[in-house]
Amino acid sequence: MAEEFEPRIVAFLCKWCSSAGADLAGVSRMEYPPNIIPIQVMCSGSVSPLYIFSALSHGADGVLVSGCHPGDCHYIKGNYYARRRLALVKKLLEYIGLEPQRFQMSWVSATEGLKFTQIIKDLVRELQPLGPQNKLRRKF
Ligand code: FES
Repeated sequence: MAEEFEPRIVAFLCKWCSSAGADLAGVSRMEYPPNIIPIQVMCSGSVSPLYIFSALSHGADGVLVSGCHPGDCHYIKGNYYARRRLALVKKLLEYIGLEPQRFQMSWVSATEGLKFTQIIKDLVRELQPLGPQNKLRRKF
């Protein structure tokens, strides 16, 4: 029987909320798939679309950007900027022929460890049928 595809997911997590939510999941021993490569950023608003395309070109099968809930950003409007800017990423992915599901955004607070685990489980489940992302992957 063929092994199930395990997607590699780069997760840009805002330091103040989502990264703390991931830590809470970890210290609370909540289980979730080990498919993510977490990268802590100061704010979801600091994630350039170029980071996302760079992750995909370096072999990621999917990318997650997660930040504070709207209204809770520690830099006031960072997540509003992120939401607007990164909505275009899905359209760009579609435009170049990649499945838009390969990019997701979420809002996870420092107290939402369980929600964080559910987001990762859902993302892995959504990416598995898509298979490996080879369109943007660099050939070295
Ligand atoms: Fe968390 Fe801005 S500080 S999204």
